[in-house]
Amino acid sequence: MEPNADIALIGLAVMGQNLILNMDDHGFTVVAYNRSTEKVDQFLANEAKGTKVLGAHSIAEMVSRLKRPRRVMMLVKAGKPVDEFIDQLIPHLEPGDIIIDGGNSLFEDTNRRQKYVESKGLLYIGTGVSGGEEGARRGPSIMPGGSPAAWPHVKDIFQAISAKVEGGTPCCEWVGEMGAGHYVKMVHNGIEYGDMQLICEAYNIMKTGLGMSADDMHEVFAEWNRGDLDSYLIEISRDILAKKDADGLPLVDKILDTAGQKGTGKWTVINSQDLGIPITLMAEAVYSRCVSALKDERVQASSMLEGPNPALPDIAASPERKSAFIEDIRNALYASKIVSYAQGYMLMRAAAKEYQWNLNYGGIALMWRGGCIIRSRFLGKIKEAYDSNPALTNLLLDDYFVGEIRKAQDGWRNVVATAALKGIPVPAFSTALAFYDQYRSGVLPANLLQAQRDYFGAHTYERIDQPRGQFFHTNWTGKGGATASSTYNV
Ligand code: 6PG
Repeated sequence: MEPNADIALIGLAVMGQNLILNMDDHGFTVVAYNRSTEKVDQFLANEAKGTKVLGAHSIAEMVSRLKRPRRVMMLVKAGKPVDEFIDQLIPHLEPGDIIIDGGNSLFEDTNRRQKYVESKGLLYIGTGVSGGEEGARRGPSIMPGGSPAAWPHVKDIFQAISAKVEGGTPCCEWVGEMGAGHYVKMVHNGIEYGDMQLICEAYNIMKTGLGMSADDMHEVFAEWNRGDLDSYLIEISRDILAKKDADGLPLVDKILDTAGQKGTGKWTVINSQDLGIPITLMAEAVYSRCVSALKDERVQASSMLEGPNPALPDIAASPERKSAFIEDIRNALYASKIVSYAQGYMLMRAAAKEYQWNLNYGGIALMWRGGCIIRSRFLGKIKEAYDSNPALTNLLLDDYFVGEIRKAQDGWRNVVATAALKGIPVPAFSTALAFYDQYRSGVLPANLLQAQRDYFGAHTYERIDQPRGQFFHTNWTGKGGATASSTYNV
């Protein structure tokens, strides 16, 4: 048979199937393959019926249907399955052929795999694909990185199937070498964790503080989605709150409060520790999922550990005060979100330096503007900030965001203070505020901390009245010697 297919896709779970159908819609001929080959037949007989999609029952057959250079994309579980398929593919491919990993792989694995695949004369792409099932079908955000020579061969397919924003611009652009694409997708997921946690905190104050029903909160989210918070996650939260169970009661109230996680948020936080970047909000979001998972312990603690009554009856009873407080909650969410994205961009800047990537920050905001889980109107503003100043040190210092936080901060502080007084947990709102206040502090109490380190371990300190880079040790007690330990930072 003529090798006329444009691309092969391995892995027929829902994301893989939808991506194939999306490629087919755009005129590409796709060969579908899956480890358990019955899935190939089922897919061709059902979802792919009436399309040009081809099926293959072995890797050899799949490769034989492809034009050169061959493009093989894997959408399989991150980890071992990716390595196994790479090893199975290599003997069937020829120099210049391209292996693409579209799963949520750890960027360090992608670094390693690119080197390995290139050592066999092949090219490699590790790409983030975001947008869930619907995104894969109708237009995801795609964040490719890897062997630069591979990009011209996949660009047309990826940009055709990706989401489009204003003016038809695709939410897909080359991110950079090695694991850069997977890195940017990882940060996307960390931000996704943060956004979700912020929405949950807003929901919790309205529910436990103001005693609002799911229907009332549905209205609030609908209103928020018409303003600066307009985003996919606010939109689905609005719709979730309106969804009723079979008995007519809100389904959300019947869902057990323990969150799962697959690891990308955790990876973001681990990497931030390695790079020394405070992504405090994403870290709180990951830990909040961990706390939620301690359901049995929390239930036990709830009958033993005391705290204030969380209800806010005076505010709830006054329509004006209530709507003013809901506006404060919106401001707390919005300002915290600005901090979270600022932290995400701080991390990407540090990563670009560390891993020698030339990241385009405005371009990343554009890729996230549509198709992906964190898509929002707000990302358009981030793009504008980086377009007008690509060297911007921190998003918080952009004029537009300085003004936005100025407007939001009284409400934000009121919510964090009220929540603290009423014992309503708002870890993400409050860590964002703490970071904001730390970041705008020209002086922090780390002078005392340095003194403590020098006191007990002779770790030395710098002085405000001496040039930076000179280190001093004091014999604090008169008992220690004058010998300082060496000065190094991790
Ligand atoms: C996306 C999502 C997706 C992620 C899921 C589940 O961009 O489409 O980020 O890639 O895997 O949202 O993540 P958790 O199970 O860790 O919540």
